[in-house]
Amino acid sequence: MSVVPKPFVKWAGGKRQLLPIIEKHIPDEFNRYFEPFLGGGAVFFHLVIQKKQVKWFVSDLNSELVLSYITIRDKIKELIESLESHSTSYFKNPSVYYYKVRDTNPKNQVDKVSRLLFLNKTCFNGLYRVNSKGKFNVPLGKYVNPNIVNKENLLAVHYTLQSKDISIKHHDFEDALKNVEKGDFVYLDPPYQPVSNTANFTSYTDSDFNYKDQERLFGKFKSLDKKGAKILLSNSKSKEIMHLYQEFSKGIIEINANRFINSVSGKRTGHIELLIKNY
Ligand SMILES: C[S@@+](CC[C@H](N)C(=O)[O-])C[C@H]1O[C@@H](n2cnc3c(N)ncnc32)[C@H](O)[C@@H]1O
Repeated sequence: MSVVPKPFVKWAGGKRQLLPIIEKHIPDEFNRYFEPFLGGGAVFFHLVIQKKQVKWFVSDLNSELVLSYITIRDKIKELIESLESHSTSYFKNPSVYYYKVRDTNPKNQVDKVSRLLFLNKTCFNGLYRVNSKGKFNVPLGKYVNPNIVNKENLLAVHYTLQSKDISIKHHDFEDALKNVEKGDFVYLDPPYQPVSNTANFTSYTDSDFNYKDQERLFGKFKSLDKKGAKILLSNSKSKEIMHLYQEFSKGIIEINANRFINSVSGKRTGHIELLIKNY
């Protein structure tokens, strides 16, 4: 494989920009890797090409996102054809075609995923997010020449996902972490706890993931710690998270993050996030 696989969607809370910092805290050795809040998979793709003899268990609760991974793995030819057709129609008349596709709700697997990838590349801010309730209503983005069919990367992801050592599932993080054992490494990147009511965090916080879920995750963090797994968690530097994880305070690292999520460029300044580890 000549091209290194990278996230094929721009995802809310994506960790591509933070990889240089996260990388420093990845254990040198582990048997199995668990990432139950996979999103665009920045950390997974970064590691999977480096570490041999590891078994990978990646998952997310977002069914359309998981379907995208599965479709790239199993139906790449049809998917690329469908994206190419979107691309041709888009460039004839971007705004008309964008809104037309936005209003569709395809049932077919390839069409569904191809719509998601198309909108992700062309919508405002490139932050297509699907959730169980909300209708997707992001306007057209201001791209001059969006790379709608990133064929090289899609093929690189396709080849990578052929490995029998990679399991991709759609489930809640608790189910995903049932079989974690001593010697395994778990990277947790949940939707972040909002820092304050005034912060414009809703744009990349999954509103379905509330404080009860953060507590549920903390419970899991503790039980995996007892089992002897290595755990690394990303979250906001919020009062609630600092309080929840106080018994792991020795493993709390503050990082200056520049997330480029806020659409107002003046607000795209660095802010502090946390990495919390138990090792
Ligand atoms: C901050 S994003 C992860 C971003 C990812 N690290 C990346 O680089 O793109 C959080 C993810 O958690 C998923 N999620 C939300 N609630 C979940 C739950 N209860 N169990 C598993 N995944 C969940 C969302 O669908 C979203 O993809």
